[in-house]
Amino acid sequence: MAKPLQIEIHNPNGKYRVISTKPMPGTRWINLLIEQDCRLEVCTQKKTILSVEDIIALIGNKCDGVIGQLTEDWGETLFSALSRAGGKAFSNMAVGYNNVDVNAASKYGVAVGNTPGVLTETTAELAASLSLAAARRIVEADEFMRAGLYDGWLPHLFVGNLLKGQTVGVIGAGRIGSAYARMMILIDLDIAAYGKFLKANGEEPVTWKRATSMDEVLLEADVISLHPILDKTTYHLVNKERLSKMKKEAILINCSRGPVIDEVALVEHLRANPMFRVGLDVFEDEPHMKPGLAEMKNAVIVPHIASASKWTREGMATLAALNVLGKIKGYPVWSNPNSVEAFLDENSPPPAACPSIVNSKAIGLPISKL
Ligand SMILES: NC(=O)c1ccc[n+]([C@@H]2O[C@H](COP(=O)([O-])OP(=O)(O)OC[C@H]3O[C@@H](n4cnc5c(N)ncnc54)[C@H](O)[C@@H]3O)[C@@H](O)[C@H]2O)c1
Repeated sequence: MAKPLQIEIHNPNGKYRVISTKPMPGTRWINLLIEQDCRLEVCTQKKTILSVEDIIALIGNKCDGVIGQLTEDWGETLFSALSRAGGKAFSNMAVGYNNVDVNAASKYGVAVGNTPGVLTETTAELAASLSLAAARRIVEADEFMRAGLYDGWLPHLFVGNLLKGQTVGVIGAGRIGSAYARMMILIDLDIAAYGKFLKANGEEPVTWKRATSMDEVLLEADVISLHPILDKTTYHLVNKERLSKMKKEAILINCSRGPVIDEVALVEHLRANPMFRVGLDVFEDEPHMKPGLAEMKNAVIVPHIASASKWTREGMATLAALNVLGKIKGYPVWSNPNSVEAFLDENSPPPAACPSIVNSKAIGLPISKL
């Protein structure tokens, strides 16, 4: 028999059994659950990605709700196991939920929570950081310094791209994509007001337009950042053909989900076009990279850290816990999942609502009047 997974138990006599498949940042989420009569079991096993079998073992015979992670495969098998254990609540600690079969969850009446509204700016900031790092070859230059190769200023040393006045393209201009676009204007004003300010200083105004097609973005933009959700329509959205349409010196950023880019085609493209640069937070076969990517000097690669600021990660943990708690308690669903400040204010109790349930309509949950 498989060895049981290590767990940490909070409030052992709590009435509702809630599992978190991972320890999560902060303590507020723990306190909110135990104050509301939950027995919380946090899996502390040193194993980065839990298998379906691991999670079935954690769920056991009685489980009211689970907080899970985007690395886990939440499909028919897990939702039927959760339902058999009497559970009706699951929340991803993420805004994206491409790892969740929402239809399977709905079939068993299980609510599926996610965590929008708390990671938009943090994720956009990483996309902006990768854009600048790729444009100015920061990682290559850092490696060069550490290797002791710097022996004096040279006119050609790590020459990169100037971003001022360049065209930024966003594919998937939702919450994060729009926040990224605002950041790349480098000032948080509306564009018209910023344009007036620039004009008063004798400069060209910044303009924006909604492209009529993806090709228009690919052909015109100097920096392209990908922010769509991952589904059948966005799988390999950036493929060999589309890469070939982009400018030879363009910068491509992906902080959405790895399979949005055909990574094999990307490696080929990077190899053939040394002036084309990419900044990647996510990978097609995470945690692995396609062969050759790690050797490409024109790629800046980071391990899926776009939402990794302390405030955001603690907030995500809180929202995920409150999604599960709210469903257990029979609370309605918050009317605007993008406006979640009331749940994040540490100085007052959170509203009696689930912050964001993606299948609320399918399972007939009422909307909060708060
Ligand atoms: N790297 C990370 O750590 C990290 C963190 C947060 C979110 N994400 C990813 O970013 C994605 C976007 O998050 P969001 O909160 O901005 O979501 P959102 O729903 O607000 O925006 C997604 C946008 O994608 C667009 N879209 C959908 N299908 C498309 C298609 N076929 N072609 C072009 N655009 C399409 C939608 O119209 C929408 O504007 C999430 O789904 C998640 O997968 C990643």
